[in-house]
Amino acid sequence: MRSHYCGLVDETLVGHDVVLCGWADTRRDHGGVIFIDLRDHEGIVQVVIEPDNAAAFTSAEHVRYEYCLRICGKVRSRPASQINERLRTGKIEVVAATVEVLNAAAPLPFMLDDAAGDEARLRWRYLDLRRPDMQHKLRLRTKLVAALRQHLDARGFQDIETPILTRATPEGARDFLVPSRVRPGEFYALPQSPQLFKQILMIAGFDRYYQIARCFRDEALRADRQLEFTQLDMEFAFVEEREVQDCVETMIREVFKQVADVELVTEFPRMTYAEAMRRYGSDKPDLRIHLELVDIADFVKHVEFKVFSGPANDSGGRVAALRLPGGAKQPRKYLDDLGPYVTQYGAKGLAWIRIDDLAKGREGMTSPILKFLDDAALDGVLRAVGAQSGDVIFFGAGQYKTVSDFMGALRLKIAHDNGFVQEGWKPLWVTDFPMFEYDHEEKRYVALHHPFTAPKVDDIADLRANAATAVSRGYDMVLNGNEIGGGSIRIHRPEMQSAVFALLGIDADEAQAKFGFLLEALKYGAPPHGGIAFGIDRIAALMVGTESIREVIAFPKTASAQCLMTDAPSGVSEAQLQELHVRVVKPVKG
Ligand code: AMO
Ligand code: AMP
Repeated sequence: MRSHYCGLVDETLVGHDVVLCGWADTRRDHGGVIFIDLRDHEGIVQVVIEPDNAAAFTSAEHVRYEYCLRICGKVRSRPASQINERLRTGKIEVVAATVEVLNAAAPLPFMLDDAAGDEARLRWRYLDLRRPDMQHKLRLRTKLVAALRQHLDARGFQDIETPILTRATPEGARDFLVPSRVRPGEFYALPQSPQLFKQILMIAGFDRYYQIARCFRDEALRADRQLEFTQLDMEFAFVEEREVQDCVETMIREVFKQVADVELVTEFPRMTYAEAMRRYGSDKPDLRIHLELVDIADFVKHVEFKVFSGPANDSGGRVAALRLPGGAKQPRKYLDDLGPYVTQYGAKGLAWIRIDDLAKGREGMTSPILKFLDDAALDGVLRAVGAQSGDVIFFGAGQYKTVSDFMGALRLKIAHDNGFVQEGWKPLWVTDFPMFEYDHEEKRYVALHHPFTAPKVDDIADLRANAATAVSRGYDMVLNGNEIGGGSIRIHRPEMQSAVFALLGIDADEAQAKFGFLLEALKYGAPPHGGIAFGIDRIAALMVGTESIREVIAFPKTASAQCLMTDAPSGVSEAQLQELHVRVVKPVKG
């Protein structure tokens, strides 16, 4: 149907006849000459329709935005004055012999430009995806997946598919369930990850596994979270953590170079979970930002102000300070608005001191809490954070985890608002995660990674006795403040797996019912094994420089879990429900 791609026609083709297909990006009438910018996935080429070609001219006069066209013509050089250096095709144009309308386009519901609203873009996704920007993003994603496959295929990893209709695999989210027609009242769960299958593959004697796997998690959507997303899922037999980490670190480094021309450091820094929380208030610290939290409990243990002295004297508490250099330039309203901002992250308040002139002592400072701090406390705190004139110092007090969370969020916000995010790429490994986290709502331990992650201790009695402080063999790869991958060395002994289930409040019967197949498989000579999974969507988003993974997914869901193009989810017929043995209980209107 065509001889060349629009975006690839260049000066080497001058004098040649070409047949091009694509969409009308623009059409301009210039005193009797019509110009059409014809666009395909490779780019744009300028087509000229001259009035002496009456048939082509009449046809071109009817062309509107996004008409689908087939144009035969001859390539010629543009006059020097009309050369466009920014376009690959900018030195030439195509003089049309024929202009064939393959399909007209209705008037567009929105302009195909960067300003288009999210709703319109998702509702008419096929129009949005035609934009060069989106074509570029999805092509980069294709390259990323191809590079990962190439890398792993060359190293003997075996690509094995695992079921989509399966049993629940807990990764900390709710399951999507699919009712069984042939087994009334029974349900498949969609996998939150292939975790258990990949472990079983190791038990089955496969040595190195990978899969580009779709995962399904019914959880609150955010910029970096979708209900269904794609992992590069990997598992290795007979390994310890360093072997997995070194192998995938090399892969990530090579793939970033190959796909995005980004050089990542030769050895990723490593940081324990405890250090990351202490210095950055996050288990995925953005190391492009140099601001750090400083613990100041020692200076405020004795003060009257209970908000500070309470947590300062409590072993589970934290009082942390964060210095914003030059923050005094910000208007008062900026400081006041940060209070409500951090309450989203669990804060009860946010105290601060603005230092207009350090030399003037208290006189040179403004703060809602100055009156609560005696000289010793104030002096100690200012010294600990290295306060200078022009700074604002923020304070968070409360439970350790809560303070870390909201001060960590504050660190990101003030760094972005005040230009403290450096250019570049900062990867790291975060290690030594706690094995368990106490869920205050459910009043029980939950696994910080997943229940199949091995503890550092081998001894079951030791783990039971020290569950609250037990450290796991889990690890995350973090890049510029994003968790791009997570994995662990797994439990490979059935007794240890049963003990961990028990600590998580899963009793023997429930463990048998839910994970009997795993416990059984572990009994038949299961090898030590471990692995990791990377978020492909997140890596692609980082590579193209966008905040939202929606930008690198062809058909994503909205924040309210809908596909605006197909209008999913949707109701189904009564007959279908009956066949599935499902009855819908309509929400009671209150
Ligand atoms: P984890 O739950 O950490 O580990 O997931 C691995 C990686 O997948 C990405 N990711 C997501 N991306 C988009 N939307 C989501 N909702 C979403 N959730 C997770 C993240 C994350 O680092 N089975 C284990 C891996 C293992 O232990 O080998 C697992 O799934 O980038
Ligand atoms: P209050 O005495 O409750 O009015 O609090 C005095 C100051 O302390 C206000 O600026 C509050 O925002 C701040 N504050 C209250 N609770 C906390 C907290 N948990 N951490 C940090 N600052 C707080």
